[in-house]
Amino acid sequence: MSDNKVQIFDTTLRDGEQVPGCKLNTEQKLIIAEQLDLLGVDIIEAGFPVSSPGDFKSVEEISKIVKNATVCGLTRSVENDIKVAGEALKYAKTPRIHTGIGTSDSHIKFKFKSTQEDVIERAVKAVSYAKSFVEDVEFYAEDAGRTDNEYLARVCEAVIKAGATVLNIPDTTGYCLPSEYGAKIKYLKENVKGIDKAILSCHCHNDLGLATANSIEGVINGARQIECTINGIGERAGNTALEEVVMILKQHPYLNLDTGIQTEMLYGMSQLVSDSMGIYTQPNKAIVGANAFAHSSGIHQDGVIKNRETYEIMDPKDVGVTESAIVLTARSGRAALAYRAKNIGYELTKLQLDEIYTNFLDFADKKKEVDDSDIHQIIENSKVYSEITSA
Ligand code: KIV
Ligand code: ZN
Repeated sequence: MSDNKVQIFDTTLRDGEQVPGCKLNTEQKLIIAEQLDLLGVDIIEAGFPVSSPGDFKSVEEISKIVKNATVCGLTRSVENDIKVAGEALKYAKTPRIHTGIGTSDSHIKFKFKSTQEDVIERAVKAVSYAKSFVEDVEFYAEDAGRTDNEYLARVCEAVIKAGATVLNIPDTTGYCLPSEYGAKIKYLKENVKGIDKAILSCHCHNDLGLATANSIEGVINGARQIECTINGIGERAGNTALEEVVMILKQHPYLNLDTGIQTEMLYGMSQLVSDSMGIYTQPNKAIVGANAFAHSSGIHQDGVIKNRETYEIMDPKDVGVTESAIVLTARSGRAALAYRAKNIGYELTKLQLDEIYTNFLDFADKKKEVDDSDIHQIIENSKVYSEITSA
């Protein structure tokens, strides 16, 4: 793998699907997995096989159909979880077991009522056992965001020795600041013996709205895998949004970090996940929200009509959106009205536009958004209608 390739690990079907109300059946999961494979994700986390017979079946069926991506199953550091994941993944061309344990003081004290040394022992045992089923074993240090760096480095060193190929450093509670998370990755890169044998992975939750920023800081500081979901769905406030990290890396080429994602599929993928899960995407969602390429203020509309780049940093086509939208509201200016009128066949002179614009503002003050049929109506009812020529 080239040193500037960032692996995209999609966990829509695991961390995303565990969200209340987002449950999918096997058939729906297969459709999404097939599309994720075409999208170009490197790893599909297909589920948590021991959690239910339905999830086991989904992981098994996904393993059979995925052609390019690695298929991954989640486990705790529990022998039976790992054995069941190994079985569920047996048809995968490239299987991965994702096992791990909480490493923060709070997890060790309250969840396990245990000690740091015991947790290291359990982690090593889990990784060694997972290695008896698959070559590719990813270890997660749950709540790594709140784990002391020196202890985290010791955990990482021990699991690399046991054969872990990927080290997942989750900010499980979405607590870290970007600078803090980046420094954690840098610390591990510089202080873990054998780190060159493994890939560091970011898995950041969005409790403070920092998931995407933290993942980007992670890869800037040496991580080479990002765990993310379509539309950023996931436990509580969600995960890192796949479409956001992919487009950040694409729009900032000087970072010299690439993904293998077919970005023109991003909008369709977002719609598929949102429709299948019945979970609505907020209109102002970056990249894939309904308003991500829509312009409604007069100043912005005038700029975009003259040249799209005045107010857009991405070409909508790059993410699968056909074109930028000029939305007509009471905040729109003459340029936007003339543009939309032209699109439906009216070529307006300056004087005609002045007349129609006054009628338009009266109309727009009563209706939130003015659509094409409204424009026809406003023009047809105007004093200047008989003089207007077709565009
Ligand atoms: O957030 C988290 O820590 C997780 C792990 C199970 C990887 O989802
Ligand atoms: Zn998570």
